[in-house]
Amino acid sequence: MSAAFSVDNLSVVYDHFYALKDVTIEIAAGESFGLVGESGSGKSTLLRAVAGLAPVTNGTISIHGAPLNGSKRSKDFYRQVQMVFQDPYGSLHPRQTIDRLLLEPLAIHGIGDSDTRIARALDEVGLGNGFRFRYPHQLSGGQRQRVAIARALIVEPSILLLDEPTSALDASVQAEVLNLLEQVRRDRKLTFAMVSHDLGVITHMCERLAVMRNGEVVEMLTAAELAGADVHEDYTKNLMVASEGFVRA
Ligand SMILES: Nc1ncnc2c1ncn2[C@@H]1O[C@H](COP(=O)(O)OP(=O)(O)O)[C@@H](O)[C@H]1O
Ligand SMILES: [Mg+2]
Repeated sequence: MSAAFSVDNLSVVYDHFYALKDVTIEIAAGESFGLVGESGSGKSTLLRAVAGLAPVTNGTISIHGAPLNGSKRSKDFYRQVQMVFQDPYGSLHPRQTIDRLLLEPLAIHGIGDSDTRIARALDEVGLGNGFRFRYPHQLSGGQRQRVAIARALIVEPSILLLDEPTSALDASVQAEVLNLLEQVRRDRKLTFAMVSHDLGVITHMCERLAVMRNGEVVEMLTAAELAGADVHEDYTKNLMVASEGFVRA
């Protein structure tokens, strides 16, 4: 299996506190990998460390088999690896039109043909060209998250890091956005690393997952094992009970 990315003994320490401790995970190209665990278990820290938004204290991050050179990331890295956050309002500048928001990543990466790309990106996420000159506050939560996804996709990444991408949305809108993500993953052969506190979302979207607690991975499971309650740790069983609507452990 060729790895899209891997972390090897990764630790993130904040003032002697291990937010992430010796985490080793390898995610295959085209795989959708889930991260679950109680609040504060280090899920966001893991994604943020990969994206370059949290300081790596120890360990190695490799992209397509090539280890990063310390904390240095190439411009190509910032194109290949895109992150989508829970709160699209926080990640979309309120004074910029959707057009500007989509133009910015193209400009940063020196990608031309912006008119065509912006139109295509809006179309891909199910928003027509009519959204182009609106502002984020004129959009619903689901539409804003579609813009955030378009903004990630427009630079043609290979890896998406998704941190609770639908947790702020109503259930029906959540399902639509998850379907969109699944669709673009298939169409573009993307690799996903996705955090959710909703185990149903993870079993639906992911093939494998890591269960995290206190910055460490306590077990690795396939989605089928999680769905079938074929888990080893009591901690994971408790997560299953706590996740609303999920099967009883
Ligand atoms: N910038 C930071 N400074 C200090 N502590 C942090 C920082 N970011 C995260 N933490 C701590 O690291 C732990 C893991 O946080 P996080 O990765 O956000 O958890 P999760 O996403 O699983 O809820 C928490 O205890 C959190 O308070
Ligand atoms: Mg988090």
